[in-house]
Amino acid sequence: MKKFLAIVLALAMVMALGVSAFADLKVAFSQIGQESDWRTANTDNLCAAIEGHEGWTLIYDDAQQKQENQIKALRNFITQGVDYILFTGVVNTGWDEVLAEVNEAEIPLILIDRMPECADKIEYAAAFGGDFVEEGRRQTIWAGEYLKSLGRGDEEIAVAIMEGTTGADAQVGRTKGNLEGLEKYPNMKVVAQQSGNFTRAEGQAVMESWLKSVDKIDVLIAQNDDMGLGAVDAIKAAGLVPGKDIIIVGCDSVKAAFEAIVAGDMNATIECTPLYADFVVPTIEGLEAGETYGRDVLHPAEGVYDCVGGIVCGGEVEVTSTLAADVIDARVY
Ligand code: AHR
Repeated sequence: MKKFLAIVLALAMVMALGVSAFADLKVAFSQIGQESDWRTANTDNLCAAIEGHEGWTLIYDDAQQKQENQIKALRNFITQGVDYILFTGVVNTGWDEVLAEVNEAEIPLILIDRMPECADKIEYAAAFGGDFVEEGRRQTIWAGEYLKSLGRGDEEIAVAIMEGTTGADAQVGRTKGNLEGLEKYPNMKVVAQQSGNFTRAEGQAVMESWLKSVDKIDVLIAQNDDMGLGAVDAIKAAGLVPGKDIIIVGCDSVKAAFEAIVAGDMNATIECTPLYADFVVPTIEGLEAGETYGRDVLHPAEGVYDCVGGIVCGGEVEVTSTLAADVIDARVY
């Protein structure tokens, strides 16, 4: 009888261990770096959700904006035998080989934020990212409609486009969208176009140099808020009034951009959410339960926030802007 009880107890322990071993997952996250407020919010949101999940261990790598660091990190994740890899690439190209290695190691890959150009050649379990082309269209269409509302629809308008990191999915997509949106407004002409690398410091430096070399800038399209905020500093330093002398449209909808809009320094920000935890966590749980997800890239619903409210500025998807002052207190990033 004693022997029987010992066997039952041992079996119960093995089963208990088996169940918890199944729930124990190593979730690895290859992050680009920390170039912007958006990126910080994205890192915090995903890391907190993974670390806070019972049984899950986070293995995080910050690539400091370098593709070679990301490639090294991905190979490290393979060596460590992680259970899932979350990936967003600093640039679009150059991932074919290392992502094929992830596939060979049979580690489910979840693409977030920026999609690599080789996405159609690799296996991935799920994909969530911004609709960058649409965000770009919304930026210039917002500017065109706002100018019309000010009675400046026929005036010749000089537009400067401050681009993100060259070759990044967000830069490529937003530039395409910016130019597509401008096709609707023959009065708006691009007079300057340069990368500010998605950082506040480079946004400031690019604007400083434009203010010395470009005759006139009426509208700044900054492909993220951080660059727009850097430009605000440069415009003020040059003795001009941001938000009036130069209309500024950012992208991301970070809290600092809301504050700048409420203060009158910026005019609008197009939302690009960094909050992917609510998509990624249930997806991993679903995959563990045997669910499968298609190859479509899921884009979260996103808004437009500005200094006036009521501007209709959709590209392919119509959206009406919300007055930033009305919702600033509810912003979580
Ligand atoms: O990929 C998303 C973009 O990357 C955000 O707009 C920007 O702020 C970030 O650095």
